[in-house]
Amino acid sequence: MTIQETTRASALVEGYMSGFGNGFATEAVTGALPDGRNSPQRAPLGLYAEQFSGTAFTMPRSEMRRTWFYRIRPSAAHGAFERLPHAGVDAGFQPPSPNRMRWDPMPGLAGTDFIDGLSPLAATTDAWHHGVTAWRYQADRPMRRSFYSADGEMLFVPFEGDARFVTECGILTVSPGEICVIPRGMKFRLDPIGGTTRGYIAENHGAELRLPDLGPIGSNGLANPRDFLSPVAAFEDDANAQDLVAKFEGALWRTTLDRSPFDVVAWHGNNAPYKYDLFRFNAIGTVSYDHPDPSIYTVLTSPTATPGLANIDFVIFPPRWLVAENTFRPPWYHRNLMNELMGLVAGTYDAKAEGFLRGGASLHPRMSAHGPDADTTRRAEAATLQPHKLDNTMAFMFETHAVFRPTAAPAIVGTEQADYDACWSGIEARYQGGAA
Ligand SMILES: [Fe+2]
Repeated sequence: MTIQETTRASALVEGYMSGFGNGFATEAVTGALPDGRNSPQRAPLGLYAEQFSGTAFTMPRSEMRRTWFYRIRPSAAHGAFERLPHAGVDAGFQPPSPNRMRWDPMPGLAGTDFIDGLSPLAATTDAWHHGVTAWRYQADRPMRRSFYSADGEMLFVPFEGDARFVTECGILTVSPGEICVIPRGMKFRLDPIGGTTRGYIAENHGAELRLPDLGPIGSNGLANPRDFLSPVAAFEDDANAQDLVAKFEGALWRTTLDRSPFDVVAWHGNNAPYKYDLFRFNAIGTVSYDHPDPSIYTVLTSPTATPGLANIDFVIFPPRWLVAENTFRPPWYHRNLMNELMGLVAGTYDAKAEGFLRGGASLHPRMSAHGPDADTTRRAEAATLQPHKLDNTMAFMFETHAVFRPTAAPAIVGTEQADYDACWSGIEARYQGGAA
């Protein structure tokens, strides 16, 4: 257990605790955490105790995610929700198809906060209780309201601009190259810092993300637990009314709160947001020939009841050395059980010569063939193989067993690259043996 304790005159101060899945305990004001009991008859300092459960009460202890809040007022103090129309969310999704797809970056929007700037990209066919919804977002002004998703935890992958996440557990400042995970149901606001923030989101409807097992790799490697940072308790005592927006069963709903929901003075537990710097990932690969499956680059995984079958794997393609001898070094041609939705955070991706842009995305459905384009293949076959640092790159993949349905929102449908299949044209037949 990591214990953080401090006394502060001011609220909303940023600070972090290190470790993945720890039972943290943190208080912004000394004495706010009760001693022993989770819910004493009267909580210290006149605060209210509230349990925030991310998993069913009776889950195995290893799966359990829950946090106790000690807050100025309980979350229950609000009126009825009403539907909040939203062009992107309400547009729905296209039927699933085996077509490979690629999108340009989403059109820019001025004067939007995070909620107005949310744009679904694709959702799996068995959402909302399994699978994943992939989003992109942009915001150039702060939220005057708060948000939570009852449908899943949200994995943020920003690619432009710094942003400040104010959550019930505290504050996280997140920059491109870092990721941030907000638990299912946790209220937060996402404010850009000094400009526009843009990024991708995987809304995970399945089991909570966790670090993958390492098997024969051993006790170190890939994403290391101590590089994950959760916020220390921080709060604001703001009695101004503000809206709360909830995502519930695929639609947005709003209600009004008569004070800030970020009034948690102390908390303990493991159902908490966290962030991680992708450039700290310890990439492991071949030092002889071939290259391992991309699962070797899994940062976080959401398992299903079938061993080894992920609801979602969050996989990255980070800077790394390529040293394999007599090997086709780019990602090979392949067809997969899993459905792959990719995005780009920085630089370029080594399997495509062009057309895969930062802020854009590609989708390769179950068993649909894909791989490097013709130019990349020719260059890889002709290359003199020396140790080579693949630098200036950070691509990622949301990989899931469930089939994605692309958004039907006209603004995003208009960014589909109609000629994507053509990137595999021009790969000539070279076999000279048996043609008649
Ligand atoms: Fe693939």
